[in-house]
Amino acid sequence: MNIDPIAGYLGAEITGIDLSAPIDGETAAALRRLLGQYLVLVLPGQSLDIPSLKRATRVFGDILTVPYVAGSDQDPEVIAVLKEADECDIEVFGGDWHSDFSFLDEPPGGSLLQSVEVPPYGGDTLWSSQTGAYDRLPKDLKAVVDGRLAVHLGAPYGKKHAPPKDMAVSRSIKMHRGDESADRPRLHPIVRTHPESGRKALFVNPTYTVAIYGLPDDESRDVLARLMKHCLRPDFTMRHRWRPGDLCIWDNRMTMHYAINDYDGHRRLMYRTTFAGERPR
Ligand code: SIN
Repeated sequence: MNIDPIAGYLGAEITGIDLSAPIDGETAAALRRLLGQYLVLVLPGQSLDIPSLKRATRVFGDILTVPYVAGSDQDPEVIAVLKEADECDIEVFGGDWHSDFSFLDEPPGGSLLQSVEVPPYGGDTLWSSQTGAYDRLPKDLKAVVDGRLAVHLGAPYGKKHAPPKDMAVSRSIKMHRGDESADRPRLHPIVRTHPESGRKALFVNPTYTVAIYGLPDDESRDVLARLMKHCLRPDFTMRHRWRPGDLCIWDNRMTMHYAINDYDGHRRLMYRTTFAGERPR
């Protein structure tokens, strides 16, 4: 395997490995170690079919059927992340900074995204290292958030906290919205420790984190605004420009990501799997 780091805080391109073939124990352990270290792995030219994508997913954990988003026609455990060429001026799946399903009791450990069809330009994905954000957190903010909990809500899927009715979303991804279970607030530590690597990261995001638990409203708003401004500094990010066949694997415990929506008029199709995580500690 060749390993080329991509950015200062996260990301490595991995070549010299073929995940369409059976994955031996040594290779699997190396991939888990690399994901722990780099948080996002980019493997060009994999072009995995669905059984191989699922086999590669199991290297990192049990496959999770994510709630609220319908599985693809081929397999309920795989989401087809699709925007058709004629779907213009709409919201895309993952089109804001988030950590996947952080509002669940046990948010996912990570995901694999296999590109199938990419636009001639645009449609990149951004990731942000929240280990980097934690390491560089100003001391006064660290003193406020260490040991505290944040409130997460599944607002985009909820009933009480539903998205605006006139929000245009892709017809190519079927989402189950208006679900009361997504309105139930979940509390997670703001600083989270990875169960295997022991690394610490900030675990808040602008899509699902709505308050700092136990602080008065105005103070909670101020602290959250400062935290978000810090977490989303470009210093902590990497950007991937997709080519057909690329496979990206990311750690959802220690990163946020953002699907850039700048390719109206072109088709983009990705297959996505998710692996299980645990209650954040
Ligand atoms: C997502 O999983 O949030 C979407 C990522 C992408 O389409 O680039």
